[in-house]
Amino acid sequence: MAITKVKSLKGEITVPGDKSISHRGVMFGAISEGITELTGFLDGADCRSTISCFKAMGIDITQEHDHVVIHGKGLKGLSAPSKMLDVGNSGTTTRLISGILAGQKFISSLNGDESIQKRPMGRIITPLTSMGAHIKSIKDNGCAPLEIGGAPLHAIHYDSPVASAQVKSCVLLAGLYADGVTSVTEPVISRNHTELMLKGFGADIKSEGLTASIVGGPRLIGQKITVPGDISSAAYFIVAGLICENADLLIKNVNTNPTRAGIIQVAKNMGGNIELLNERIVSGEPVADIHVSSSDLHGCEISGEIIPTLIDELPVIAVMAACASGTTTIKDAAELKVKESDRIATVTENLNNMGADITPTDDGMIIMGGESLHGTTIKTYKDHRIAMSFAIAGLVADGETSFDDEGCCVISYPNFFDTLKALS
Ligand code: S3P
Repeated sequence: MAITKVKSLKGEITVPGDKSISHRGVMFGAISEGITELTGFLDGADCRSTISCFKAMGIDITQEHDHVVIHGKGLKGLSAPSKMLDVGNSGTTTRLISGILAGQKFISSLNGDESIQKRPMGRIITPLTSMGAHIKSIKDNGCAPLEIGGAPLHAIHYDSPVASAQVKSCVLLAGLYADGVTSVTEPVISRNHTELMLKGFGADIKSEGLTASIVGGPRLIGQKITVPGDISSAAYFIVAGLICENADLLIKNVNTNPTRAGIIQVAKNMGGNIELLNERIVSGEPVADIHVSSSDLHGCEISGEIIPTLIDELPVIAVMAACASGTTTIKDAAELKVKESDRIATVTENLNNMGADITPTDDGMIIMGGESLHGTTIKTYKDHRIAMSFAIAGLVADGETSFDDEGCCVISYPNFFDTLKALS
């Protein structure tokens, strides 16, 4: 795959279903009674890992492209898997399923790829252990492979040191299996799809400020859910529409939940032409069509409370900042270091290789915008968001941008390059 500079970028697109919502739809459907039907499901490798884990625990799931039907067996209906669960590359699968596995009478184990085996699991081991769960890192290094389950749980209040929806959701899901009320307080609010969706399934779950709480032992009932487009996938085209010349894009049917949509605010702060059209609520989530066009962008500071609302978009936001005039400073984003790759390092390395001027910091990066970019071979480190962010950089770079391995896009956006090609 090689990307070259485009002279114009125009059209109307849809992006694949939201990854976070797709994972949760399968998980919550599996532990509910009756049928859960998902339309608009993300048929990507990560969400397939979630499906295969629940199939391995006796749940009947059928999938045709973006349509998935889950025959739930209720809170206590999972059966012991006959072998180690394979979570692939998926941090969301690993951390959320661990909350569910912690509440099971059987003992199970899970593992994933090389990247998953480096990601920190101490952040879920700590709260689950204080709920009474049996959970251990098999290699005793705070990472997967993990062994989980077989112990009764009690409710806790957990003050999470990180703003992480995966940690929050893990504890809330374990809370379904505990007596009493389990609550989690975060330093800054993270995405709230678990809270919104579990309520729809019948859980007694509340959010007040930075605290979410759940009552144990509910009866969950299967639901019909329409999964909206993923703003993390839309982000590549939002940035493309803003940085390319003669660009005008309409990205239809995108989830704009405020706990996810920080990129829209940042694009506005940087002077981007971006507007939300046809705003509506679908399956309890805010959805809109996003219109973007070529813009004269300027740098800004991105820090504080907005960070968890755009954490997955920071690689492509860094590309946007490199194309803006002036300096952009990204702070309070140390979480970037523990994603599918160390994204402070991988963004810095690739953008600098393209001729940009970026300095990494402990919790972010400083980008001096305005240098012209040139093509190079992108080192993706098998990180889907790095591959796609730098494909967008390639649209404005001189020469050819290629990839050491762009196959990783299947994690969250299998037909990304087809969509890009059709537009340009
Ligand atoms: C996710 C939460 C985020 C995000 C990840 C998906 C989720 O991770 O980076 O891609 O679906 O809950 P953290 O919660 O660990 O920040």
